[in-house]
Amino acid sequence: MIEYRNLKIALLGAGSVGSRVAELLLEHGDELASRVGAGLELVGIAVRDVDAERAVNLPRDLFTTDAESLILSADIVIELMGGIEPARSYILKSLNSGADVVTGNKALLALHGTELFEAAEQVGAQLFYEAAAGGAIPIIRPLRDSLAGDRVKRILGIVNGTTNFILDRMDVDGDTLEGALATATALGYAEADPTADIEGYDAAQKAAILARLAFHSAVPVEAVYREGITGVTAEQVERARRAGYVVKLLAICERVVDPVTGSEGIAARVHPALVSRLHPLAAVHGAKNAVFVEAEAAGDLMFYGAGAGGLETASAVLGDLVSAARRHVAGGPGVAESLTASLPVVEIGKVQTRYQITIEVVDATGVLAKIAGVFSDHDVSVETLEQSPAAAAAPGAEHITATLVIVTHRASEEALAATVASLAGNAAVATVTSVMRVEGA
Ligand code: NDP
Ligand code: HSE
Repeated sequence: MIEYRNLKIALLGAGSVGSRVAELLLEHGDELASRVGAGLELVGIAVRDVDAERAVNLPRDLFTTDAESLILSADIVIELMGGIEPARSYILKSLNSGADVVTGNKALLALHGTELFEAAEQVGAQLFYEAAAGGAIPIIRPLRDSLAGDRVKRILGIVNGTTNFILDRMDVDGDTLEGALATATALGYAEADPTADIEGYDAAQKAAILARLAFHSAVPVEAVYREGITGVTAEQVERARRAGYVVKLLAICERVVDPVTGSEGIAARVHPALVSRLHPLAAVHGAKNAVFVEAEAAGDLMFYGAGAGGLETASAVLGDLVSAARRHVAGGPGVAESLTASLPVVEIGKVQTRYQITIEVVDATGVLAKIAGVFSDHDVSVETLEQSPAAAAAPGAEHITATLVIVTHRASEEALAATVASLAGNAAVATVTSVMRVEGA
């Protein structure tokens, strides 16, 4: 039997993910040691309550509430506590003591990533975070390493399982948003407070992390434009289905070029969007995640799988642990994050995409020409227009109305917003029923 030297591993947190990481590490320690060329000794697990019941049976003597001392004894620290503090301070302390750190803490990385990566670089340590976006899906390493020689054009990500589950139920079962959210909660996909998921905060954090990697530039989470799914109606989902689309909450990170100056920037946004049923992202059902990457040389790539779950996410964490341990065995400084492009983040008004606008109009001579005029006044080009037969006038209604569904060519958000405002104030328009962005074409 080969005698390896031991690397000391400290685990901070033993919740859904941490407990599974500890379980797998203890179960497969010998196998991992042979892959790394060093033993991986779990020297302690810091938690708030050492006596709390755990989902997994773990040796009691590993538990401690003294995270600070545990950190100082470790070669590699795995942070799976979540939240900002004390996770941030513990990671800084770990890096400053020369330990590599593995984390899945997207909230912390989105908010304080630059500070943490700089701290790692200063001491030659490395911060690994494969679990922070897409759970079990390998996406951080492909963006950081495999695609480092390419130029990423765009990322379209379904990066929040809870909202994908809800929108999928609305699409497949004709459920309402409230009904689908109740099912997501009952099945344990949605948190007791689902705000971070359904309002798009969780996806925005992941978008900031992915955009930073893809475009080698710092992307503050506050610069990510964000809309959640709470405004999505069963009617919009049904209308999308009839038109050959599915509604998805997308995290979109793209390289944009200023048409006047030719200078490059980054657009990062999270919002519900119509995706063609022919696009690979339309086949992402239930709580699954997928990240679709468009790169200049590689073309289109898609990464798919479980975006959450204790065991699934533990796989990504252990992959990082193996990388960190191999680095220790090989020696030398860690690989620093590349922020060399320093591209600015473009404001949402300048971002261009396609839109589907649904309006109720007065069904009378000349109305279509007036509506077309509103679009051309704002330089928004109409791609398709469908009018459904006029509804029978309700008793007491002033006019007979018709429904128009208009899909535009690419236009800027500011031009589209101005168009919608003009439509809403136009005497020919009874109601602007819905405005949805169309992505992935
Ligand atoms: P949990 O809430 O299930 O577990 C958190 C753990 O951290 C608990 O064991 C808790 O201790 C411990 N902890 C919290 N605060 C402290 C503190 N101040 N001092 C010591 N210990 C503390 O979290 P998850 O396992 O779900 O998530 C962990 C991280 O992984 C988060 O950053 C999350 O965003 C990320 N992640 C999670 C995924 C998932 O599917 N759950 C998917 C991808 C990423 P105690 O048990 O005693 O309360
Ligand atoms: N709440 C997240 C989701 C968990 O629903 O995808 C993984 O980050």
